[in-house]
Amino acid sequence: MKAKLQELIEEMKNVVIYSNDDIENFRLKYLSKKGVINDFVSQFRDIDPSQKKEIGQLLNTVKQFAQNKWEEACLNISSKSLNNESEKIDFTLPSEPDFSGSRHPLSIIENRIIGIFRQLGFVLHEGPEIEDDWHNFSALNFPKNHPARDMQDTFFIAEEIALRTHTSSVQVRLMEKQSPPIRAIMPGRVYRNEAVSARANCFFHQIEGIYIDKKVSFKDLKQTLYIFVQQLFGEKIQVRFRPSYFPFTEPSAEMDISCQLCHGEGCNVCKHSGWLEILGCGMIDPNVLKMNGINPDEYSGFAFGMGVERIAMLQFDVKDLRTYFNNDSRFLSQFKNY
Ligand code: DAH
Repeated sequence: MKAKLQELIEEMKNVVIYSNDDIENFRLKYLSKKGVINDFVSQFRDIDPSQKKEIGQLLNTVKQFAQNKWEEACLNISSKSLNNESEKIDFTLPSEPDFSGSRHPLSIIENRIIGIFRQLGFVLHEGPEIEDDWHNFSALNFPKNHPARDMQDTFFIAEEIALRTHTSSVQVRLMEKQSPPIRAIMPGRVYRNEAVSARANCFFHQIEGIYIDKKVSFKDLKQTLYIFVQQLFGEKIQVRFRPSYFPFTEPSAEMDISCQLCHGEGCNVCKHSGWLEILGCGMIDPNVLKMNGINPDEYSGFAFGMGVERIAMLQFDVKDLRTYFNNDSRFLSQFKNY
């Protein structure tokens, strides 16, 4: 009997189980009541008592081996059949709808603008939204009680402390801590005490730029901004500079681009002029350089500032500024592919 049991183990080792049928056949043959192992259990009663201990142990080993092999096969085959299920997926079916979010249109435009200036060697800088009078006004050549301060209706928080009205304040912070050459692009949110309408909001976004080095001229300003709008709107764009006034630049200008909608013919968007204003700019006033510790006899520079909402309105044909801030997912989900 001992030899037969050893043979039985070898036989079971060689049984290959592939399918659910194989599992059931194995169970019937070896583990069921009428199975081979139970036969040996019945015969066990009649064997010589001197052999009982040894044969008993061997019989247990055989039973245990059969049980283990069967359980292992059950586990393997059931996970395999799961895999087979997944192989039945039809890959030609349309995919599940994509509910992932998308970037906000203002972020899309802001990132594009920053990307263009980065290629031109400008580095990114940011400053605080709560500013003191010095950084927002005085260091930018707005004298106390000067009417130019009224150009920007300010939200004051405390005496001499306000929500910044423009990102030009970051210019000051940068000039304070860095000496020329400085070439930086400074995006951020700004606040003005204005009635909310389709064309104005009490907060909006600007991107500021400065370039200060030896011998920087108006020619550099024009060429830099021209390359910028060509990259943003396409090579066919036309620009013009109109004289303007900002306390911190001299001379100052506003830059217009040819209207993207009517291509100069005249339409409602450009108020039939063929031109759209997109930014303010100028040569940094020597007084501003001096106030911020830069020698105007040695260095010169240009600066510019633009509104992100306005450029995004042109690019995406958005008519009402308020839609940027209403968080309506029907509006926001239109920008998935940008
Ligand atoms: N800070 C100006 C504004 O908010 C925009 C501006 C104009 C920024 C001319 C500049 C500049 O840097 O040179 O209206």
